[in-house]
Amino acid sequence: MKSNYYQRIASEYDRKWRKFSERTHQVVLDALPTDASGRVLDIGCGTGALLERLIQLHPDIRVFGIDTSAAMLAEAGKRLGSRATLVIQDSERLPEFAEPFDVIISSNVLHYIENPADWLGQMHGLLKPGGLLILQDFSKSSRAVRYGTWLMRRIDRGFRQAYGLDEVKVLMVEVGFSVEKRNVFPIDWLWKGWLVRVRPVADQS
Ligand SMILES: C[S@@+](CC[C@H](N)C(=O)[O-])C[C@H]1O[C@@H](n2cnc3c(N)ncnc32)[C@H](O)[C@@H]1O
Repeated sequence: MKSNYYQRIASEYDRKWRKFSERTHQVVLDALPTDASGRVLDIGCGTGALLERLIQLHPDIRVFGIDTSAAMLAEAGKRLGSRATLVIQDSERLPEFAEPFDVIISSNVLHYIENPADWLGQMHGLLKPGGLLILQDFSKSSRAVRYGTWLMRRIDRGFRQAYGLDEVKVLMVEVGFSVEKRNVFPIDWLWKGWLVRVRPVADQS
C-alpha cells in the first residue's frame, strides 16, 4: 500500500520535520563533490527543501524532483518555481528521461520502497557512466525504529521497513554499484541515519 500520509501533512511537513530534515540534508550535501554540476535528480523530493539548498550551493546545476505525493510536490513547486522540473510519479516505476543524470540523490525515502533492488537498478540505468548516487535514510539500528515500527505503520500505511548500513551496502554491490563512502551518523538523541555514496561499476566488456 502506498503512503497517503504525505497528502495529509504536506503543508505542515517542513515545520514538523525541520530539524530532522536540516540534519539529514546537510549530510547529503556534504557528500556531494564541491564541483557538482550537470543534471541532478532527487527521488522522493518531498517539499523540495534539499533541492533548494542544492541550488543555493551549486547555482549552475539543473534539478529534477520526483515524488508520489501531489501535495508534497505542490509545496516544492511553491518553493522552487521554475528552478526545478517536478514530476508526480511512483519512483518504483521511474519514467524515461531525455538524458541521463550526473547525480541522483534520495533522502529519507528508502523505507517506503517495496523492492529496493529493483528501485536501485532503475536508478543505475538513469545515471551517466561514472555518475553518482547518494542515498540516505534513517537506520534500523535506532531505538526509535526498533521499538516504533508498529506505531509508524499505524500512522503511515506506506512505511515498509528501515535498513541498516551493512544491508544497504550489500544491496548496492548486488545491483552493480561500487561503494565510495558509507557512514552512520546521529540525527538527534533518538534517531540515527546512514549515507552511502556509490557509482555504477564501469562496464568491463
Ligand atoms: C520522509 S519524506 C522525505 C522527503 C524529502 N526527501 C526530504 O528528505 O525532505 C518521504 C517522501 O517520499 C515520498 N515517497 C514515498 N514513496 C515514494 C515512491 N515510491 N516514489 C516517490 N516518492 C515516494 C513521499 O511522498 C514523501 O514526500
